[in-house]
Amino acid sequence: MPDDRTRTANPAAALVASLTAEQKAALTTGGSFWRTADLSEAGIPSIMVSDGPHGLRKQNVGGDHLGVLEGSPATCFPPATAMASTWDPRLVAQVGGAIAREAKAAQVSVVLGPGVNIKRSVRCGRNFEYFSEDPLLSAHLGAAWVRGVQAEGIGASLKHFAANNQETERLRISAEIDERTLHETYLKAFRHIVATEKPRTVMCAYNAINGVFAAENRWLLTEVLREHWGFEGLVVSDWGAVHDRVEAIHAGLDLEMPSTSGRTAAEVVASLAAGVLSPDELDTAAERVVNLVLRGIAELDDEATYDPALHHELARDVAAAAIVLLKNDADVLPLAPTARIAVIGELARTPRFQGSGSSLIVPTQLDDALSSITGRIAPDAVRFAPGYRLDNVDEAGLAADAVAAASGAEVALVFLGLPPQDESEGYDREHIELPAVQVELLEQLIETGTRLVVVLSNGSAVRVSGWVDRVDGLIEGWLLGQGGGEAIARVLFGEANPSGRLAETIPMRIQDTPDYLDFPGDELTVKYSEGVFVGYRWYDAREIGVSFPFGFGLSYTAFEYSDASAEVQGDVLQVRLQLTNTGASDGAETVQVYTGLRESAIRRPLRELRGFAKVHVAAGETVPVTIDIPLSELDHYSAAEHGWRREGGSYTVSVGSSSRDIHAEIEVDIAGVGDRAPLTIDSTVGEWLAHPSVSDLVRGTIEKLGFEPDSYRFRMAQQMPMRGAVAFTEGQLTLEGLVQLAADANRSTLG
Ligand code: BGC
Repeated sequence: MPDDRTRTANPAAALVASLTAEQKAALTTGGSFWRTADLSEAGIPSIMVSDGPHGLRKQNVGGDHLGVLEGSPATCFPPATAMASTWDPRLVAQVGGAIAREAKAAQVSVVLGPGVNIKRSVRCGRNFEYFSEDPLLSAHLGAAWVRGVQAEGIGASLKHFAANNQETERLRISAEIDERTLHETYLKAFRHIVATEKPRTVMCAYNAINGVFAAENRWLLTEVLREHWGFEGLVVSDWGAVHDRVEAIHAGLDLEMPSTSGRTAAEVVASLAAGVLSPDELDTAAERVVNLVLRGIAELDDEATYDPALHHELARDVAAAAIVLLKNDADVLPLAPTARIAVIGELARTPRFQGSGSSLIVPTQLDDALSSITGRIAPDAVRFAPGYRLDNVDEAGLAADAVAAASGAEVALVFLGLPPQDESEGYDREHIELPAVQVELLEQLIETGTRLVVVLSNGSAVRVSGWVDRVDGLIEGWLLGQGGGEAIARVLFGEANPSGRLAETIPMRIQDTPDYLDFPGDELTVKYSEGVFVGYRWYDAREIGVSFPFGFGLSYTAFEYSDASAEVQGDVLQVRLQLTNTGASDGAETVQVYTGLRESAIRRPLRELRGFAKVHVAAGETVPVTIDIPLSELDHYSAAEHGWRREGGSYTVSVGSSSRDIHAEIEVDIAGVGDRAPLTIDSTVGEWLAHPSVSDLVRGTIEKLGFEPDSYRFRMAQQMPMRGAVAFTEGQLTLEGLVQLAADANRSTLG
């Protein structure tokens, strides 16, 4: 039995010390689909966990992770794809807080979210549940979500760790990713959130990474997560992700979910008896489970309630902030309240407001755009026609009715998008086209000559390049949650000024996308051959035109950037500017800061997002904006040295309103940190030349030998390792002398 000191210092350890091996093993696997094991007799009751991430999916009866059985009603907030286009951590934290209050009222201790996987492919069926193609944006929004949830005493579960970037074969695929790309692109958001928010749990992914399943991946779950990042919480499996329970415990996976009805607990006990698993390993996993349970139990509150009406209002506000206005020719929007309007499209009446699968919420109420629009104008000024069916069957007469409705209107609002079956958790899209029935309808509507505003509902980008030039307005509504219909009406009528910005690029063609030839992989392997060139990093590097760039979005007002400056202040790169709202309405702009390094020793994207700020500015006002970027944001991951390095040089700091609308470029000298590999006689002549303490000597020697600077001979010489080059110096340099020089040079760099 534990003594009193252990009991007070570490109650979880004390409880675990009092358990039998069977009880410990039972604890490390779920007690049911959504609950941890119930060991109340030993003082360890069970707690409940539920999905996540844009609302609470609490299943009171039974359990499934495919969205088959309904959960209790809960507020369906905009899924991550829409939340990300707010670029507003403050709002995302509010959503987290609201979900946590609902969890508390439902006696749920951990909400399974956020999903911070990177949108590597536009085709990933689950993109709606993820934030962005950019790791920094995903990191900051995911952190805000966790902050909001955990501030209410509820635990978060950061998922899916890691590289779960496709649904095809998600339980069997191995993502083959080089070390630099993993750290810079696919692990970055996890690392940031672990460091800043200490999520109570991290959920491992289904897939393998470089041949080892995440659930049994000791490098990932222990070396990276705990030893390098300092994670102290619990690692839970994705539902059914464990292949070998004993290997998973070795790797650092504490809690397997859901219940395996005792099967894997028996395996754990047997391997303990056989000496394959050490008692310490099992105790550590069990202690982490007990810690999570004790935290959860301490926060349970039978009296907790929440206000569904207030949460519905929040869902509407976030949805309005998420809407991205992509095109607004001749100010077709906002609509005048007196306009004669046609509303076309089944999606106006039957909104698609969330994605399918484990995150499927039963909403507490549901706004549809049609009711919200008709509620704002005289009944005889609006005509509705569904235009198409959501099952994509071509029904005679539907398009003709829609054309008739549009022909008599001043503006036709055309609601298009992906029906639920076209994208979902569990499978990927094969293309990025809208359903053919919808595109054919749009072609006929274009023929009417009526001004058209297309409103899209989709979880991830669709191709608009076939028709966008021939419509007057375009709104990207993503999937906006239960308040989306009202939010769309607010934007259409100018009650809300659109301020959403794209968190993912809208490509012109699927053939242009970075993963086009490497998705979803062959023979259970997918090669991430594009490396760090994901999303806009790819389109910029290859100079590929896009329909709408990352970070883009219009407003009903206009903004002017002035006096932009950037300088290093201690450990931060400080960017300052003045932002003026030059239009007639209040609005919000998202100022984005990107950096690039033209003269770089490594292959780099042209620009990478390093900081951003969403700024509200009243009409006619000017506000100062300061964005502080930790210098460590500029680091790159060196695969050769298995660590982060900062390359010194003149960085281009670009301040813009999208990745391609840059208003100011400032060059800033940044000192390197750890970026100089030690000099040896196997370093090349070029590397010797680049070293400040020996470059003059080497240059002088080369010139004395008659190699003109900038000549091809000089350039050829630079590629040679010094060991071989010595022979060409006619005795001016010796191997012994160079060894000594290198030692001196390395000492001077360290000093
Ligand atoms: C999903 C997770 C989810 C879990 C429980 C899995 O299929 O990948 O995101 O939290 O089911 O529903």
